[in-house]
Amino acid sequence: MAYIFDEPSRTFNEYLLVPGYSSSECIPERVSLKTPLVRYRKGEEPEISLSIPMVSAIMQSVSDDKMAVALATEGGMSFIFGSQSIESQAAMVRAVKDYKAGFVKSDCNLKPDMTLADVLELKEEYGHSTMPVTDDGTATGKLLGIVTGRDYRVSRMETTEKVADFMTPREHLVTAPADTSLKIANDIIWDHKLNCLPLVDEDDHLVNLVFRKDYDTHKENPLELLDDHKRYMVGAGINTRDYAERVPALVEAGADVLCIDSSEGYSEWQSRTISWIRDHYGDSVRVGAGNVVDAEGFRFLAEAGADFIKVGIGGGSICITREQKGIGRGQATAIIDVARARDEYFDETGIYVPICSDGGIVYDHHITLALAMGSDFVMLGRYFARFDESPTNKVNVNGTYMKEYWGEGSARARNWQRYDLGGSKKGLTFEEGVDSYVPYAGSLKDNVAATLAKVKSTMCNCGALTIPELKEKAKLTLVSSTSIVEGGAHDVLQKDKTPYVTNA
Ligand code: IMP
Repeated sequence: MAYIFDEPSRTFNEYLLVPGYSSSECIPERVSLKTPLVRYRKGEEPEISLSIPMVSAIMQSVSDDKMAVALATEGGMSFIFGSQSIESQAAMVRAVKDYKAGFVKSDCNLKPDMTLADVLELKEEYGHSTMPVTDDGTATGKLLGIVTGRDYRVSRMETTEKVADFMTPREHLVTAPADTSLKIANDIIWDHKLNCLPLVDEDDHLVNLVFRKDYDTHKENPLELLDDHKRYMVGAGINTRDYAERVPALVEAGADVLCIDSSEGYSEWQSRTISWIRDHYGDSVRVGAGNVVDAEGFRFLAEAGADFIKVGIGGGSICITREQKGIGRGQATAIIDVARARDEYFDETGIYVPICSDGGIVYDHHITLALAMGSDFVMLGRYFARFDESPTNKVNVNGTYMKEYWGEGSARARNWQRYDLGGSKKGLTFEEGVDSYVPYAGSLKDNVAATLAKVKSTMCNCGALTIPELKEKAKLTLVSSTSIVEGGAHDVLQKDKTPYVTNA
């Protein structure tokens, strides 16, 4: 007969944290959210840690190179989606590794025979007023001049006037060599009272632009996640089919960590993939695996050598797996069960394997609950899809701005490898995800700051200054359905009827 669990599986909404003693030392400014990303031995430091416990989902509609840079700037990590060609995924990884904060590749360039009308059109399209002029009109052509708003007056000039006749020519430009550091570039900007400094190579070809404002921004990110060469760190998704080709390309491109992206991780396909990586790279390539929802699944992947393990089946906002297949587990119960198994494994072997709560985070406080229940970090899709930095279109739906967000198991993404169970059959036979809109929410930076302010505040209520301390000290209680009603505004006539939206 089938095994029947004694307890129902539960979701985050069914739990509350009960405050503990907080001393006067326990204030949000002193909270550290640093957390391990990959396995480590007792007494040693993990090779990679996150500065904040947030990673972005391995999804087309969430994690591209732009998202990866924005999140690494705040101290988290993106996993670039794997449901694309090996070449384009590797190119995105490379773009993150090549990105240098403050060094801009010019996306809006002119040729000398273009006209003022072209300048105005480009300004309208890109919103930039600084445009380099190069011999071939590309971002890497020979630098011939620059056009800024100070070089023309629309009211006094014909729109047919040639760029060559009103640009600031090369001989009047202050430039610097391509390998100039940001600090030196900024000094030059200040000394010459510039707004923009072009960096050029030895043949006078344009390499980057440095703008005064970007240097200031750079200094504001003390938590940014950098590798030993001061490049942003980035993860990448892989699958259990083409790893022999995909993994080398991603490693070559500079991916800092990989993760097998699958709806079901308790499988021989995952252990084969990890073994292949260990055989070819030893421990020098780090790889997470998943998803699992119980202790057995955790132990299987821990013994297979996974560097971290993702937990969650069926709880994602765009997920219809539970409806389609009737499998999954309430996210809170899954985390509690797997965290217990992780701690037992640590006691037995002295190896700590971090776990990640993946999917189903709706409110900011769900992050705190996931951490208190034992997660080391959380993976979010819908949350990040709402921001400027996500790869999808911002659209106006009935007067409200929304961003598109679709599941990897939807017909739109067609990521059949994520749902693959082996055999010769390739392709998505039925959908496990939907195509949707989520409310547009602005910049990643502002939203992450607001979310983490809540997490830190709650941690202080529990008397915890670090995530390990939270796990140790947190007291959780189940809530009854009537106490859930008590938890919202009730028995008052609210003035503002706007639905209560946190990060939803
Ligand atoms: P969210 O943060 O609740 O939106 O959940 C994101 C997570 O849902 C991802 O990290 C995946 O684990 C999972 N996921 C992504 N696409 C699909 C899908 O099409 N069906 C089911 N789960 C999905």
